[in-house]
Amino acid sequence: MSEFRFPQEELVTERLRLRAVGVDDAEDVAAACGAASTREFLPFLPNPYTVADALDWITNQAMRAYDEGGAQWALTDRETGRFLGVIGLPIVHKGRGAAEIGYWTAPWERGRGHMSEALIAVTEWLFKQPFHRATLAIDPANIASQRVALAAGYRREGVQRGEIVLADGSFGDSIVFSRLSTDPAGRTPRALPDLPGGHLTDGVVLVRPIDERDIEATWAAWNTPDIMRATVSTRVPTRDEAAKYTRAAYAEWLAGTAARMAICDAGSGEHVGSIGVYFKSGPGTAMLGIHLDSAARGKGYATRATKLVTEWAFTEAKAERVEAGTATWNAGSQAIMERLGWTREGVMRALIPAADGGRDDVVMWAVVREAAGG
Ligand SMILES: CC(C)(COP(=O)(O)OP(=O)(O)OC[C@H]1O[C@@H](n2cnc3c(N)ncnc32)[C@H](O)[C@@H]1OP(=O)(O)O)[C@@H](O)C(=O)NCCC(=O)NCCS
Repeated sequence: MSEFRFPQEELVTERLRLRAVGVDDAEDVAAACGAASTREFLPFLPNPYTVADALDWITNQAMRAYDEGGAQWALTDRETGRFLGVIGLPIVHKGRGAAEIGYWTAPWERGRGHMSEALIAVTEWLFKQPFHRATLAIDPANIASQRVALAAGYRREGVQRGEIVLADGSFGDSIVFSRLSTDPAGRTPRALPDLPGGHLTDGVVLVRPIDERDIEATWAAWNTPDIMRATVSTRVPTRDEAAKYTRAAYAEWLAGTAARMAICDAGSGEHVGSIGVYFKSGPGTAMLGIHLDSAARGKGYATRATKLVTEWAFTEAKAERVEAGTATWNAGSQAIMERLGWTREGVMRALIPAADGGRDDVVMWAVVREAAGG
């Protein structure tokens, strides 16, 4: 038990009052923590979660948080007193002046900016104590929580491997976000904006961020030999990896490193392929990768999707140069680049692993801002 104790204080923001959690909150806590959407990222919660569980947590943990060296608040509506959620400091490193913050919003109160507002208030309060560093440990698939982090001025630091316990008892990675007392105020700027209105379309194809709707299609694509052959992978990932990849795909978008999108038929919404833009090889340079599901080829989807996404990369993602590599054997992809007027810049020898265990040469194509009319 720690000797250090935080002062027990109410925090008032524009719309919220953060006050001590009390036994009167038990029914709201039970309803919120009993919801599958809360448990998804807090898998240690009892299942089912009863009012007795809530009372146990309130009396044995929340109300004793300060005695244990932590802190805990209920988020309530400042005007009506309505219960909205919980935020606290479950892990405190007093000697290092660092603390990890944890939170949840009642499912019926989400998406209204409550947690972003509360996190800003709690972080500011923490920096008035002898603390200079606040952290969050977030499941890569928990996009809402990563957005809360960015809205409260936290920056993504990196991935901690095997750091959280998942619902099936296995260990999963978490992304660390941190904010220091010396960081500038305000939301953390993002290098990659969201797609305007959530998608791009020309009326024939529709391109939208990859999410869990795309698990089966991603898995099927990874099991298509010519799709895998055109990638840098040396083995077919498992279905479990396909699920993790799709659910967490937007984390990289938020990080500004990759915009991974599903290509869909604009009429039916059916998934026909995938396209990604990767911002890893230097400022202003975007690398594009694309594949179409076997049954969707020869209908112009790839050319249309490449055009839409390239325009977005120049106009919204501020790329100066968009490049793509096509294996020398990949005549279909090269035809797309030629059709779109990209410049064939040369051949990079032995760039990607080949199916026979050797290496394949890759033709490099690029379009730069002036040529794109950007
Ligand atoms: C994560 C959580 C606390 C967010 O609470 P909230 O009160 O809805 O958060 P806000 O309203 O402040 O939303 C903040 C951002 O999340 C986005 N968001 C909200 N719900 C979302 C969802 N289901 N999917 C993607 N983004 C979402 C909002 O658009 C907003 O982003 P923006 O500022 O970039 O526009 C809530 O979803 C929750 O309790 N989830 C279950 C428990 C949990 O995951 N806790 C955190 C563990 S690390």
